[in-house]
Amino acid sequence: MSVMALDVEKIRKDFPILDIKMNGKPLVYLDSAATSQKPKKVIAAISKFYKRYNANIHRGVYQISVKATEEYEKSKKKVASFINSESFEEIVYTRNTTESINVVALGWGEQNIRKGDHILISEMEHHSNIIPWQILAKKKGAVLDYIKVDRKTAHLDEASIEDQLAKSPKLVSIAQCSNVLGTINDVKRIAGQAHKMGALVLADAAQSVPHMPVDVRDLDVDFFAFSGHKMLGPTGIGVLYAKRILLEQMPPVFGGGDMIRSVDFLDFTPNELPWKFEAGTSNIEGGIGLGVAIDYLKKYRMADIRKHETEITKYALERLGNANINVFGPDIKDTDSRTGVISFEVPGVHPHDVAAILDSEGVAIRAGHHCAMPLVVNVLGKTAVSRMSFYLYNNQNDIDVAIGALDKVRDKFRHSRG
Ligand SMILES: Cc1ncc(COP(=O)(O)O)c(C=O)c1O
Repeated sequence: MSVMALDVEKIRKDFPILDIKMNGKPLVYLDSAATSQKPKKVIAAISKFYKRYNANIHRGVYQISVKATEEYEKSKKKVASFINSESFEEIVYTRNTTESINVVALGWGEQNIRKGDHILISEMEHHSNIIPWQILAKKKGAVLDYIKVDRKTAHLDEASIEDQLAKSPKLVSIAQCSNVLGTINDVKRIAGQAHKMGALVLADAAQSVPHMPVDVRDLDVDFFAFSGHKMLGPTGIGVLYAKRILLEQMPPVFGGGDMIRSVDFLDFTPNELPWKFEAGTSNIEGGIGLGVAIDYLKKYRMADIRKHETEITKYALERLGNANINVFGPDIKDTDSRTGVISFEVPGVHPHDVAAILDSEGVAIRAGHHCAMPLVVNVLGKTAVSRMSFYLYNNQNDIDVAIGALDKVRDKFRHSRG
């Protein structure tokens, strides 16, 4: 295999955690879908904020407060340009993808969803894109529908998309990429179909923004949610993009400082966008760190990151196939519509045992339902699956070590049975 798209060995030097040992073995980190590791530049930017200009934003006239405000606002402009939104006023900072989706459910949903309305999601959603809609539907007497997953191809079922859209849902909310199957959904096409039926569209971009070029204007989505911590940034900072007109119409979801223009004893006037949706002191270090993470990703170009991950995924799928490991998700020939997320099972071995043995070999993978219980339990028919997921810092050696550790899993269970 040739990994030409990126200079991974150079990239790896930027991630201090990749030098540590886990259980006495060099760390092989294969859980970036849960959270990514952080490059030195992001860590340094956070540290510099606290050492050199820690102050609250939007409140002080003194120099370090002005500097903190400038750096924080600069990060919003970087986010806006990264996803090609029209302006930073369409970029609301939240804590994470989950909070971004909840803000839509609480703000737009409260105002627009009525009894009997349909909300459409899919069977492959993360809990973060299921539960806010279950809560809203229950409260409003609305109906929550699900696009089926084609059990053979691991893609959304085309007939089901059509059938469900024929019910004229008010909102379609789907993942751009599944965190279990790795499937990439054609959000642009579905958004076009949904808009024709009068629906608004939310894309859960938690697993797409970190790994591929995205363009909210080209996708023509109305809402777009993602997390900083999955794209080399710090935890506690997430993004909600929404078209300006929608943010203007939506009522603020949280009340408090910074989200108001003026207040009297009876009422308040909300602040301008995007601050209307950001109550209280912001995650200043989070915003600044996210901006630096974006600089880093841009340096390596998202198209090349995607290419590298596709190569690594193809290699891993081949090796897993040769090792007779059952893999879930799109076929190996379909890597163009698959991200670097591979869920799998070692026949006869519980996924938690697989993860524990890999841990003893220094390999960090995830096992469980991956916060997508309806998909894992009802669609895949499993209580848990193992998952490895890749990022720009993973190399062929990481896969080789993981496959070697999976051989050990096999040996151990063969002997314990025999
Ligand atoms: C597809 C998808 N949506 C939403 C989330 C939730 O992200 P967060 O925990 O950062 O809110 C995740 C996290 O794994 C995810 O993979």
